[in-house]
Amino acid sequence: MCGIIGYIGKRQAQPILLHSLAKLEYRGYDSCGIAVASSGIQIYKDAVRVAELAKASPQLDGTIGIAHTRWATHGEPSQVNAHPHCDCTSRLAVVHNGVINNYQSLREQLTSEGHKFISETDTEVISHLVEKYYHGNLEKAVAAALSDVEGSYAIIVLAADEPKLVFAKKDSPLVIGIGDRENFAASDVPALLDYTNRVIYLEDGDIGVVTEDSIKVIRDSKEIAREEHKVLWSAEQAQKGGYEHFMLKEIHEQPKVIRDTLGEYTQVPQQIVDLEIMRDTGKEPLLILACGTSYHAGLVGKYLIEELLRVPARAEIPSEFNYHGHSFTTRLTIAVTQSGETADTLKAMKMLKEAGCKVIAISNVVGSTATRIADQTIYTRAGPEISVAATKSFIAQLMVLYWLVMVYSKVYSKADAKRAADMLLGLRQLPSKVQQILDNDSAILKCAKYLSSYENVFFAGRGINFPIALEGALKLKEISYIHAEGYAAGELKHGPFALLSADTPVVAVVAKDNTYEAMLTNIKEVKARRAPVIALVGEEDETIEKIVDLVITVPRVNAIFSPVVNTVALQLLAYYTARQRGCSIDFPRNLAKSVTVE
Ligand code: F6R
Repeated sequence: MCGIIGYIGKRQAQPILLHSLAKLEYRGYDSCGIAVASSGIQIYKDAVRVAELAKASPQLDGTIGIAHTRWATHGEPSQVNAHPHCDCTSRLAVVHNGVINNYQSLREQLTSEGHKFISETDTEVISHLVEKYYHGNLEKAVAAALSDVEGSYAIIVLAADEPKLVFAKKDSPLVIGIGDRENFAASDVPALLDYTNRVIYLEDGDIGVVTEDSIKVIRDSKEIAREEHKVLWSAEQAQKGGYEHFMLKEIHEQPKVIRDTLGEYTQVPQQIVDLEIMRDTGKEPLLILACGTSYHAGLVGKYLIEELLRVPARAEIPSEFNYHGHSFTTRLTIAVTQSGETADTLKAMKMLKEAGCKVIAISNVVGSTATRIADQTIYTRAGPEISVAATKSFIAQLMVLYWLVMVYSKVYSKADAKRAADMLLGLRQLPSKVQQILDNDSAILKCAKYLSSYENVFFAGRGINFPIALEGALKLKEISYIHAEGYAAGELKHGPFALLSADTPVVAVVAKDNTYEAMLTNIKEVKARRAPVIALVGEEDETIEKIVDLVITVPRVNAIFSPVVNTVALQLLAYYTARQRGCSIDFPRNLAKSVTVE
């Protein structure tokens, strides 16, 4: 969702801001804008892509500036609603990520005091509030303005008369980039990687000032020191590296991601998670919280934990849990979030922590908000994921969950240590199994060409592959815009069968486990309704290909690892289908990479 960037230094700000804005595109947006200060503030903004903005904007002279990609919440995407937003004097400009909950009453109050609003946005109240409190000291004015505001924000404020940027953060991400006689503030690290790998992660409630050669962070009116971190991601990792799309590159990175994530943890498990938490909670129910694709990883985790450890587990969507989950008591929750910034997940984590629950985060972004709320974090080593559709982060999340189950096994009993050893062996074979799928994707391409002419598709799976059916459907719908639904295969006949016809293909995700025979029956039932079936089967299978229309064969693995190989095949299926339909694969319409509003 919205991305913000600020620059102050010796160089011209405009090209740097536009370059960084392009790196923030992946977060999802519908309009963008830039403001540069020299003697006054010059602004250029519109409901266009960053490349169009860069082409159309006049040269804006100055070495201090701010810029924004907007994902509309209050008011449609338009030139007037795009950020930056100014005050009445046009000597202040603000970019904002987040939502101001009390903007309506603030707007009415400010209007009655003579302020003139021109946009429909919640953000514009911030610029007018800063104007109201501005008497020559920008940070004081920003602090006073924010004390009137309820909601979430990461903001950067620019004043025509002061060579500084003022920033503030609450419940929306913001990092400071430290350069050589230049400094930055940005929504996330990929926006900075071409300029610096030295960053400061801010905390909620931080306000601060950045000049060309200083960074000041203020909390409760006192200056405080915040630790500097070195980012290990390289600028190259956030480039396409010769692939047509980030999504394809990220799918192809998965063997390495598996190796990196496993390598990290299988060496020194005890040091990563404090096993005392697990010992403490024993076999009490576990809660797993996550949204979207991460939720599907969480659901796989639930199956793994219940099946292999015989510990009851619940996977919940935070946007629901936050409103109805109060009766469920648990002492240990696992929050799965690639970005570490998903608003609903963060809200649930905070709520649980306040209730005394321990929270382990599984996240891909070092220093993200989730990692600071959590008692412990297990990092996925996926590297920067730029494509809006999550791929490699999902596989890395699965790796962490497999690993956690192994660690748990050891905690519970010595007998389970043997299973942990077997699992480790199976996990170590996964990179080469995934590589085989990537190297032999002609059957997947054929299925994608076939699917691309349909408008409705079902995905069906059972057991540990039910979440994979959900994930396959999510991937297909989000990037190809084909209506796709994931179902537990046994549920199809409880309603969806009414939709089955020769125009409704069903993708059956099959594994050679205790669900196999039931899946076989379900496939036959679907075929009897004349719906075409594409089946994902293991290479050892000789039965299913005889009864379905098309087959995608995945390498033989232990059935508990079938979610990994099946997912990779379904990612490619979605990718090739979307490519066939000429879709905007990396940046699907209306979607945001980081969902920072409720
Ligand atoms: C889909 C996708 C989303 C995210 C969801 C949660 O491809 O990427 O469904 O999985 O928005 O995001 P995180 O994992 O950052 O909390």
